[in-house]
Amino acid sequence: MGIEKGEGSPWAVAVDLGGTGIKGALVNRQGQLLRYREVPTPAAGFDQVWPRIAGLISELRDDGRELGGNLIAGVGVGVPGALQPDTPDVVSWAPNLKWRDVPLGRRLREQSGLPVYLENDADLAAVGEHWQGAGREFMSFAVVTVGTGVGCGLVLDGRLYRGAAGTAGELGHMILLADGPECSCGRQGCLETLVAAPAVIRLARERHAGPGPWPQEARDVFAAAGRGEPVARAIVREVAGYLGWGFANLLNLLNLEAIIVGGGVGQAGELLLGPVRETVARLALPAAGSLCQIVPAHLGNTAGIIGAAALVLRKRGLML
Ligand code: BGC
Repeated sequence: MGIEKGEGSPWAVAVDLGGTGIKGALVNRQGQLLRYREVPTPAAGFDQVWPRIAGLISELRDDGRELGGNLIAGVGVGVPGALQPDTPDVVSWAPNLKWRDVPLGRRLREQSGLPVYLENDADLAAVGEHWQGAGREFMSFAVVTVGTGVGCGLVLDGRLYRGAAGTAGELGHMILLADGPECSCGRQGCLETLVAAPAVIRLARERHAGPGPWPQEARDVFAAAGRGEPVARAIVREVAGYLGWGFANLLNLLNLEAIIVGGGVGQAGELLLGPVRETVARLALPAAGSLCQIVPAHLGNTAGIIGAAALVLRKRGLML
């Protein structure tokens, strides 16, 4: 399959499929976003989500023509779940979308006529941060995305680590409370059920005492905590505590140089990371905890998109 015809240096169409929103961008070989678009992810299944992704890709190709008709090298898509190495076109499992064995890559290729590459969303966030962001200075680090779910991309000794079946780094499904809340994966008490955006909203709804409207989004809870609202502050402390447990376990296992925190909830910044660092300092083995830097993602919520562009450029031999 050739590179789409046009003038100049090739661009990538990069998509980050999240449980709440689908983000897409046209990205050049320097990792700059030339156009950015975002649409909500429908709550229903693949048949509803599929036209949104296809529509977003076709709009970004129109943007490309409008911006001067550059070559499109391919489409990279970060998915919130697992892909098996022998069927890289198929999303084998995506708990927050309730997908199993969805042939997303094939459908997108047939529809667009372009090369299409899929990868786990957090793995791509790690690739993005390694290329353009906070991961540039480290050899062994994790990018942990805290949003609708909790994802984790691992770069070990300078290389993305996928594991035997491509599912390494499923930190969101590390079980922390045996009788904890039910998880989208079918188990109970996973880290994700205690710290991801739906958990923050659940806690806020359970505990909201004030006269104002109930918080609709996790960011409302963090904003209230930033204003010093006691219930919201207690929720952020609780969430940071669980995240700190998860990070301490991760560090004891892998002795990383850094944990880079991204995703929508991750954007709460120091309000969240300050107490997370305190918990890690208390719980991780000293040699593992003291060395590790816990820092926000430099690329914010666009790390996955930049990683998706890197995936395309690498696969097409346009980047090392
Ligand atoms: C999934 C991960 C994904 C993460 C963030 C988790 O529920 O199991 O594969 O990376 O959510 O989307």
